[in-house]
This record gives sequence, C-alpha cells and structure tokens, in this order.
Amino acid sequence: ITGQFTQPAYGEVSVIQVIESTNTELKNTDRVRANGDTIVAEIQTAGRGRHGRQWLAPVGGSLTFSMYWRFNDGYQGMAGLSLLVGIAICRALKTCGLDEARLKWPNDVYLFGKKLAGVLIEVEGQIGAPADCIIGIGLNVVVPPHEFEVGQPHIDMSQALGPDIDRNDVAACIIEQLWQMLPDFTQRGFEPYIDEWQHLDWFADRTVVVKSGDKRISGINRGIDASGALLLETADGITRFHGGEVSLRAN
Ligand code: BTN
Repeated sequence: ITGQFTQPAYGEVSVIQVIESTNTELKNTDRVRANGDTIVAEIQTAGRGRHGRQWLAPVGGSLTFSMYWRFNDGYQGMAGLSLLVGIAICRALKTCGLDEARLKWPNDVYLFGKKLAGVLIEVEGQIGAPADCIIGIGLNVVVPPHEFEVGQPHIDMSQALGPDIDRNDVAACIIEQLWQMLPDFTQRGFEPYIDEWQHLDWFADRTVVVKSGDKRISGINRGIDASGALLLETADGITRFHGGEVSLRAN
C-alpha cells in the first residue's frame, strides 16, 4: 500500500508485508514514536480484536493498520477517543464515495446494519502520566463472501461501491482524517463531536441490549455524553456505560 497524501504527513507511514499485529508492533517497537506514526500491514498473522477476540482479515481485501498518538493529559485527555476514530472513518469513507457508513457504540463502523470496520485502542501509561495510545483499525474493503464465516454479520465496502476500490486511497483518506482530527481532539476534547457522532449512530433512539459482565440490560439508546459514555434509558432513568466494560446489541 502506498498512500497518496494531499497534506503534509503528520507522522511516518510504514508498510509491512507480513506481521503478527500492527497494534503489537507499534506497542513493542524500539524506535522513537511520534504522533501520527502509522504501520500498515498487508497480512496480519495474529490480528487482535476487542474482548480478546481474533481479527481475521482476508489477504488483499481489507485494510489493517495502527496509528500512535500520545495524550499528555493521560487517560482524562482520551475520553471519547474511540468514538472520534469512528467519526474519522465515516468522514474518510464519505470522501471515498461511501455515504452510508454509520457507527455502533463504542467503536464499530456499520454499513447497512452489518459490521464494516472495527477499532481496537490500546493504552500504555500510569494514571496521572501521559498516555501512549495505539489506535488499530481493521476495515473490510473487498472480501469474498466465504471469508465471512465469523461471529457477527460482516460486510465490505464493495457491497455499496462495487469491487473497484483502491485500498491505497481509502487508507490515505482515513490516515489523513485522523491526522487532522487528533490534534483538535487533543486540544478541545470530544464535546464538539457529540452531535456528529449521534447523527451517525446506527442505533439512535432504538431499543438495545447492553451486556455488562453477566448482566444484560435492555433500554433505549439515548446517545452519548462528552466522555463517550452511552446513555441508556431504562425504567430507572438514564444509566451511563463506559466502553471498556460493555457491548451493545440490537434488541
Ligand atoms: C474489533 O472490532 O474487535 C476491533 C478490531 C481491530 C482490528 C485491527 S486490524 C489492525 C490492528 N491490529 C490488530 O491486531 N488489531 C487492529
């Protein structure tokens, strides 16, 4: 993959053919990392998803990459990051001609109600110290149907755009969008992005089930707050859920 960038690079983009996982690589590298540094892999041999799951990505038909970003304010400065990344992906896909991408809290990108992309954010840093974040993105671009025999229903970009999609363009658009949005987010936080996220929410005002540990709580999805927490309306009022602990399902 060789991206064509239309603005000066923020970090350095390296492309590796075969690697365990771009997240792991960027976490363990001995090199000095700068904000915006990105590793793109053609093949991951041990791609990881959320909740300890595997991330399977068909060769040549998907994008797998990770970007490094440091938050000097530590965990506090990162609130809402996974949601911001979702917005960045939707904005980028729109510039590639795909208007229909939507979001599922906390960090999936959906197309026509199925999973199009996933985000895995990993953080290193002590409480009260700067936080080093690895933002990992896996996106299905053109995937043969038989490759999709995994867990939840998946979809790829070709279902909306046809098979002629240039992965270089898509990668460059998302990376650029993150380079543009992350400095602003670092300064202003997530609050300015709440409305945009809610407009993109596939499950807005729908009845959903939130799984938290062994519990399943049903309620109406009433959007998010400035910390990125989900607001779930139940008979008891509004309950807030934070991304790390829970997952959301359609009812
Ligand atoms: C999820 O939905 O569970 C998140 C999937 C994230 C996958 C990406 S692919 C690039 C990066 N490297 C990994 O090992 N995982 C992330």
